[in-house]
Amino acid sequence: MRALTKQQSLFFTILCLNSLLTLSPIASLEDDLSFTPDILVEGNMTIVSPCEVFELGFFKPGNNSGWYLGIWYKNVQNRTVVWVANRDTPLSNSSGALLMTGDHGNIFLLDPSGNVTWSSNHTQVLRPNVLLLDTGNLVIKEGTENSQTIFWQSFDYPTHILLPDMKLGWNLSTGLNRHLTSWKSSEDPSTGDFSIKLDYHGFPEIFLWHKHVKNFRTGPWNGMIFSGVPEMCASKHGVDFNFVTKQDEVYYSFSLQNKLELEYSGLTVSPNGDVQQITWVESTKMWNIFQYPPKDQCDSYGECGPFGICDTNASPVCKCVRGFQPKNLEAWNLGNGLDGCVRKRELKCTKDKFLRLRSVKLPESWGAFVDRDMSLEACKEKCLENCSCSAYCNMEITNGGRGCVMWFRELMDMRVYADGGQDLYVRLAPSEIGGDGKETLAIIIVVAIVGLVILLAGLGFYIVWKRNLRISRNARTQPKGPCGRSQVLLLNEVVFTSKDFYSGERINDEPELALIDFSTVAVATNNFSDENLLGEGGFGYVYKGTLTEGQEIAVKRLSKNSGQGTEEFKNELKLIARLQHINLVRLLACCIDKDEQMLIYEYMENKSLDAFLFSREKRSTLDWQKRYNIICGIARGLVYLHQDSRFRIIHRDLKASNILLDGEFTPKISDFGMARIFGKDQNESHTRRVVGTYGYMSPEYAMDGFFSTKSDVFSFGVLVLEIISGKKNKGFFNYSDNKPNLLDCAWKQWKEGKGLEIVDSSLGNSYCPSEVLRCIQVGLLCVQEHVVDRPTMSSVVFMLSSPDATMPQPKTPGFCLGRNPAGQTDSSSSKLEGSHTTDQVTIAALDGR
Ligand SMILES: *[C@@H]1O[C@H](CO)[C@@H](O)[C@H](O)[C@H]1NC(C)=O
Ligand SMILES: *[C@@H]1O[C@H](CO)[C@@H](O)[C@H](O)[C@H]1NC(C)=O
Ligand SMILES: *[C@@H]1O[C@H](CO)[C@@H](O)[C@H](O)[C@H]1NC(C)=O
Ligand SMILES: *[C@@H]1O[C@H](CO)[C@@H](O)[C@H](O)[C@H]1NC(C)=O
Ligand SMILES: *[C@@H]1O[C@H](CO)[C@@H](O)[C@H](O)[C@H]1NC(C)=O
Ligand SMILES: *[C@@H]1O[C@H](CO)[C@@H](O)[C@H](O)[C@H]1NC(C)=O
Ligand SMILES: *[C@@H]1O[C@H](CO)[C@@H](O)[C@H](O)[C@H]1NC(C)=O
Ligand SMILES: *[C@@H]1O[C@H](CO)[C@@H](O)[C@H](O)[C@H]1NC(C)=O
Repeated sequence: MRALTKQQSLFFTILCLNSLLTLSPIASLEDDLSFTPDILVEGNMTIVSPCEVFELGFFKPGNNSGWYLGIWYKNVQNRTVVWVANRDTPLSNSSGALLMTGDHGNIFLLDPSGNVTWSSNHTQVLRPNVLLLDTGNLVIKEGTENSQTIFWQSFDYPTHILLPDMKLGWNLSTGLNRHLTSWKSSEDPSTGDFSIKLDYHGFPEIFLWHKHVKNFRTGPWNGMIFSGVPEMCASKHGVDFNFVTKQDEVYYSFSLQNKLELEYSGLTVSPNGDVQQITWVESTKMWNIFQYPPKDQCDSYGECGPFGICDTNASPVCKCVRGFQPKNLEAWNLGNGLDGCVRKRELKCTKDKFLRLRSVKLPESWGAFVDRDMSLEACKEKCLENCSCSAYCNMEITNGGRGCVMWFRELMDMRVYADGGQDLYVRLAPSEIGGDGKETLAIIIVVAIVGLVILLAGLGFYIVWKRNLRISRNARTQPKGPCGRSQVLLLNEVVFTSKDFYSGERINDEPELALIDFSTVAVATNNFSDENLLGEGGFGYVYKGTLTEGQEIAVKRLSKNSGQGTEEFKNELKLIARLQHINLVRLLACCIDKDEQMLIYEYMENKSLDAFLFSREKRSTLDWQKRYNIICGIARGLVYLHQDSRFRIIHRDLKASNILLDGEFTPKISDFGMARIFGKDQNESHTRRVVGTYGYMSPEYAMDGFFSTKSDVFSFGVLVLEIISGKKNKGFFNYSDNKPNLLDCAWKQWKEGKGLEIVDSSLGNSYCPSEVLRCIQVGLLCVQEHVVDRPTMSSVVFMLSSPDATMPQPKTPGFCLGRNPAGQTDSSSSKLEGSHTTDQVTIAALDGR
């Protein structure tokens, strides 16, 4: 088309359409072809919706950008655009125009030189009427305003925001797929890299895409919310979520309960991939932003591969479903779970059993079979019959569960939730679960006979072992007082006299590492029964056991052979067993049997710190004195690990769930030295990920894979602030949601001289403010951004125990909101953006000295 004036161009367009029209039956109805087009919008003219909620017009989002036709909230000061017509074809200046032809009701956007840059596309309408509704929908209707038939609407072509009552999903009869796509940047509305699309194949769910890569999956609709977005429960206030699956359409939408209040709200995807619900708060004249997943490592699509389950509280986060083992063990142990897991035992088809996984995010359900009316029992029968059915579950959880879903492929992208999720039944070979009648009986008889022999043989051994235990118990009765004044003397004593007192280490030379038979462990743990399962920590399942003499133990059954020879493994364990300190969990014995490797630890009555700290009911059990003792205990345990004379151990994964508590709430660090067992023989040429837990990782470790004792100091600082506040530090991925994490909060309050604001309210007034403030200051010193600024653990112990010592003022913490979210001065934050795959190498966890 040549460059024409607006009128000419339009005329030309009309002629084109008109020549088409003559072929269509509608043409015969056209009796009043009017060639004077209506100008709807031009220059700075706008269309405003009846109640003045929305406004349609031209806008220029950035100083250097072109002009766009869009819809925005009329009454929001900073222009918040909700729809853009010509997002990829900006106009060079504002003298474009939106026109409507009188004859068939299409609307055209002309650029300043008169070319058509955008148009609505629909069949012809007789007496068209263009309206901007108060919902933000630009519609073309026929005839009068009361007419209900909509021929075209902007709601069918969403850009980056889903407004209330707008549909995200498919019209299956026309193939129209309404989806959201982010802007390129906050000043550039053109099609960005992130999009949100509904997939209706199998059991419908919504995906967040980064270009052509799946980034996050909401999980299927469970009747109330998406099973992979438990946050929806929290954001439910005043909002109804709808998910509709019908013959001819599948979509998600939300609506506001109180429509009269005209509350503004929208679901949006930001240019850097944050999915957010924004809601206008009139009193503050600000947008309130609610951040949806992806938020943590486990939200990342396929983080643990097929048949892998992601658990943010475990370390590494990936584990295999029971009955499965890592496909690529080396990568797996280094925290890269992408290859997933494979079955240990062949399936036996109709003889198979099902394992119940609780509170999981259902696997990716492309191609899953769905039956709305089938009961769970019938679902199980049907799944059992078809040998390629890998799992089943209820379709919805409302009213105690209904319907049936079956999977026929690898189970992909699962994770566990502390709260929420759904029960999934996974097919396993019968021998993985108890087995059936005869087989089990035979096994029991054999085990019983073997056990009896071993029991007799082991009796002598026990006597020897028990004596060793008694010796080591004596060693454990070292003073463990709080960091109070009395401790200062002790500390001085330590500094000036004996290092061995400090460490609490046994004085006699070689502690024996007891070896226990498999069968003994099996008997002690009731054959690894589910009742005895304590948890699924990093590296394997943990069972509670009781030895025949009544001693309680915790058995860590390593998920798979660590890849070391038996002798080498034993040597490593001897080293670890030599680390003995009142604040470390004691390794009592080990068990090596073919490919089974188990570590036997002392049993901790009160389980782990996180179970208290982050539980609404139990947190009040921890009064300030207990918390203070815990902080001091952990600090001393770390000094021991970092400064022991024989070798230095960097824990690398210090977090609340790795701090166990005995009957008297003495903290015991667990999982130390695991890197030594699992991290050996690293192949440097592989790219791999940082091992550890987001939220506790220091910046230099998370970004550059560089770690030192100071990385542990950082984690310790986070832990201290968590213990004081009773709140979990939420990692650092949600930079842009402007919701400060714990470090931000603590730092901000501290700067304003209101440090005590972060103290857990369940503590009431039962603490000494100066003591708490000292702890907060120590915590902040530990999480400082720059490695050199952070104190060593021994000076931490000193600071904690000397009320009168002057301490330096903390500087900005790492991963702080106020730092440089846009990444202007430091490349590190841009490295983080949008992905969790920092491909950095984690090198030696501990270096011999
Ligand atoms: C308008 O369209 C004509 C023909 O396609 C083209 O040559 C001209 O450059 C266009 N003008 C602008 C401003 O894009
Ligand atoms: C719109 O533009 C015209 C001239 O281009 C100007 O006179 C008028 O003040 C503008 N109106 C507004 C509301 O900016
Ligand atoms: C845009 O231009 C205005 C006026 O020239 C200036 O004040 C503002 O800082 C600029 N904004 C950006 C993002 O460059
Ligand atoms: C907009 O651009 C067109 C040509 O591209 C020019 O003729 C017109 O004068 C410009 N209008 C303004 C307001 O700059
Ligand atoms: C209008 O329809 C034509 C043909 O179906 C298509 O090529 C064009 O991209 C559509 N335009 C818009 C704005 O949807
Ligand atoms: C799908 O689109 C067609 C054509 O626009 C429309 O007639 C039909 O009502 C739509 N179906 C649904 C369920 O909205
Ligand atoms: C409007 O934008 C300015 C500059 O970007 C910002 O400082 C201000 O906080 C914004 N106001 C609101 C209500 O978002
Ligand atoms: C099992 O289910 C799959 C998928 O629905 C189907 O293709 C296959 O024919 C079924 N096999 C049997 C034996 O029913």
